[in-house]
Amino acid sequence: MTYLKFLLVAALALAVPARAAEPALIPAPKEMTQLPGVFTLRPETAILAASDSRATAKLLAERLRAGTGFRFPVRSPGSSSTGDILLTTNASDASLGPEGYELLVTPDAVVIRAPSQAGLFYGAQTFLQLLPPEIFAPKPVAATDWEAPCVQIKDEPRFRWRGLMLDVSRHFFTKEEVERIIDVMALHKLNTLHWHLADDQGWRIQIKRYPRLTEVGAWRKRINFGLDPKASTAYGRDGRYGGFYTQKDIRQVVRYAAARHITIVPEIEMPGHSSAALAAYPQFSCFGGPYSTDMDTGHRNGVYCAGNDGSFDFLENILTEVFALFPGPYIHVGGDEVSFKSWNDCPKCQARMKAEGLTSGRQLESYFIQRIEKFVNARGKTLVGWSEIRQGGLAQNADVMDWIGGAVEAASAGHDVIMTPESDCYLDHYQSRDHSTEPRAIGGFLPLRQIYEFDPIPAKLAPEFQSHILGAQGNLWTEYIPNLRHAEYMIFPRESALAEVTWSPKEARNWDDFLRRLQTDNIRLDSLDVNYRHNPEQIGEPAPAKPSH
Ligand code: ACM
Ligand code: ZN
Repeated sequence: MTYLKFLLVAALALAVPARAAEPALIPAPKEMTQLPGVFTLRPETAILAASDSRATAKLLAERLRAGTGFRFPVRSPGSSSTGDILLTTNASDASLGPEGYELLVTPDAVVIRAPSQAGLFYGAQTFLQLLPPEIFAPKPVAATDWEAPCVQIKDEPRFRWRGLMLDVSRHFFTKEEVERIIDVMALHKLNTLHWHLADDQGWRIQIKRYPRLTEVGAWRKRINFGLDPKASTAYGRDGRYGGFYTQKDIRQVVRYAAARHITIVPEIEMPGHSSAALAAYPQFSCFGGPYSTDMDTGHRNGVYCAGNDGSFDFLENILTEVFALFPGPYIHVGGDEVSFKSWNDCPKCQARMKAEGLTSGRQLESYFIQRIEKFVNARGKTLVGWSEIRQGGLAQNADVMDWIGGAVEAASAGHDVIMTPESDCYLDHYQSRDHSTEPRAIGGFLPLRQIYEFDPIPAKLAPEFQSHILGAQGNLWTEYIPNLRHAEYMIFPRESALAEVTWSPKEARNWDDFLRRLQTDNIRLDSLDVNYRHNPEQIGEPAPAKPSH
């Protein structure tokens, strides 16, 4: 090489900074400017955080350590942060709200600045996503340049309820399995896990006052729904299917979620979908049972007697123990798909209706929910129920979780609403029209693109009520899902689309760019050993036709 040529190459090397991969962030941030250069993780890189931000710094350090094998000591911030990663609440922009953050990556340092710990946590998630996706590996990955492209990001969520519902009644997931799902939710900045803890086919939470709920209600003899027992991870050698969480387990999962800024909303179904509880305590049904967790069909049969004050005492005692375990502000009480047959036939229920001046099963359901709401509100909690709770008159302060309509009416009457329409948010639905290539599902069709294009704000809702839409949620019902791998296949990557729907500004949504970013996100899930569906759109096959509805 001539000296002149050497100079030219050297000058070019200086002028053209190293380039890392194009950012592949999910969900897309509100504002991002790409800057020249990269920040490189080194064996000596430290994480700097004052004492209030230590917990968040330690979680980041844990993740970085796993993938790189570097030490990532967590230290108090000194005068300089050169070469290091600084997490700070100092001089943060309060207008970013309770979950917003700023992230500045330069060749010399990374600064995550936020008014709250949730914001710092989300800034850390974004930084992790700027690194090569193998950073999520459980063991050090050799021969990787741990570079993050330089960026300036200012970010905050569009909605405050970014949820996922997990049905642990139809299939029991262990606490470790639930925590795995929480890990991926955190990666994508979801903040609410709706834990469907009770239904006809299983009661999953230990209640000390009523031990039969889990002695009897947590088990069934068959796996139901035509599933192969060998495919199930909750089918015991003794021929029983099920399981439950002790109160200690529940506390552990609540703590694990809270450290990742995820609130758990427990659901205790009432007055219907309650066969498991009534199999254990049939005296709280209209005719004393028998009830069974074993039924495949007629799964709406288990209904508490609304004419028996003992039913309310029973449920209030249960809720008292539930409230002691879940510090979050919400309790979900179900309320969907109640069969009114036993109420129509029951003298106690009929007497209640007469005494209260009620003329329909719907109204008796509203009486039931309103009576429970008074108890819930008196203990400082907000009641959430499925669409049906408003059909006979909505409880005064209740939030509605809309799956079959009623969002516009509820929000226009000043109630908060969580959007989870069956058409756009049901993760138990098929992901292809060709069922021969898919595991058996309950029905429906929810391709990735459809959930990506879902807008939580109903088109007919007047602007002055739109702030009552708290956000949206994907629901995984598990009648046909006998293990975690299968659950993951149904959840991911539709959960990534939901994350973008609930976090990113509406105008930032871009399907083609989402597919590009998903390629990198798939490697993140591979590194975490999480299963997901490879969508045809991602591997170059024609996308399924978008259904009109
Ligand atoms: C529901 O899907 N039954 C709420
Ligand atoms: Zn009754």
